[in-house]
Amino acid sequence: MQSQCAEIQTQVSGRVLEITINRPERKNALTMAMYAAMADLLNEAAGDPGVRVVILTGTSGVFTSGNDLTDFLGGSASGEESPVFRFMHALYHFPKPVIAAVAGPAVGIGTTLLLHCDLSIAEDDAVFQMPFVNLGLCPEYGSSFLLPRIMGHAKASELLLLGKKFDAQTAADVNICNEVVYAGGALDRARVYAAELAQKAPEALRLTKKLLRQGTLENGMKAIQEEAGHFMTRLKSEEFREAATAFMEKRPADFSRFD
Ligand code: COA
Repeated sequence: MQSQCAEIQTQVSGRVLEITINRPERKNALTMAMYAAMADLLNEAAGDPGVRVVILTGTSGVFTSGNDLTDFLGGSASGEESPVFRFMHALYHFPKPVIAAVAGPAVGIGTTLLLHCDLSIAEDDAVFQMPFVNLGLCPEYGSSFLLPRIMGHAKASELLLLGKKFDAQTAADVNICNEVVYAGGALDRARVYAAELAQKAPEALRLTKKLLRQGTLENGMKAIQEEAGHFMTRLKSEEFREAATAFMEKRPADFSRFD
């Protein structure tokens, strides 16, 4: 199974597809081409009997720093046909188990996509953050719907309104990840679980995944669509322009002039 993008790498072994985000010089920030490649891979893997489990991972010490802010400033994410949404839909509806192996930063979509994986393993140096408000944006990918349900309103508000960084143990405590392992160990652990799942009855696995998700699927999709509309508007806002420009200029954002 071949990726159409050099920064998304693949490997299939024992009916397990590994998708590796590989752009370490930009902390694995995700461009439109990378989203498109991951969407195509997931859509192909969904119907391929040669793939029973997917592992999603980053490079050594970095999962992903989230959306490429330069891409977003350039206005390249728009509409439901955009690669970002194609990827979100592909993962949201993916019928087989997906395991995330996380090391280092998992920022923005790097955290929220974990809510849509079936198992997530984090290394003890992993750092999570959903800095959408800090960037003049809003939650994405169903997180405003899912986070209060998995961790309660108070914690979800803390993580989304303050946009605070949190560590791997906190991510495990609030049910964003399953397990914390030593630095360098997440992919190995994910491979062990993937090999185990790949031996199991595939139809029973798909059915169990479907049943586990059906309570949230419909309302989760509504939230994703509503958030997406707001997110697109926010990307054109002066608040986002200030935040993204400040990041590029390596200075704190200044929102003092906004109402
Ligand atoms: N988009 C575009 N470029 C990014 C990026 C992103 N999301 N994340 C990192 N980069 C770039 C940096 O600008 C830097 O470029 P430079 O070498 O030209 O200065 C390079 O990648 C290395 O990043 P740096 O910030 O120096 O690494 P770090 O180890 O100090 O910090 C992060 C890592 C992930 C904590 C930090 O880069 C970060 O907060 N990134 C932005 C995360 C974000 O807001 N994502 C968007 C969510 S919607």
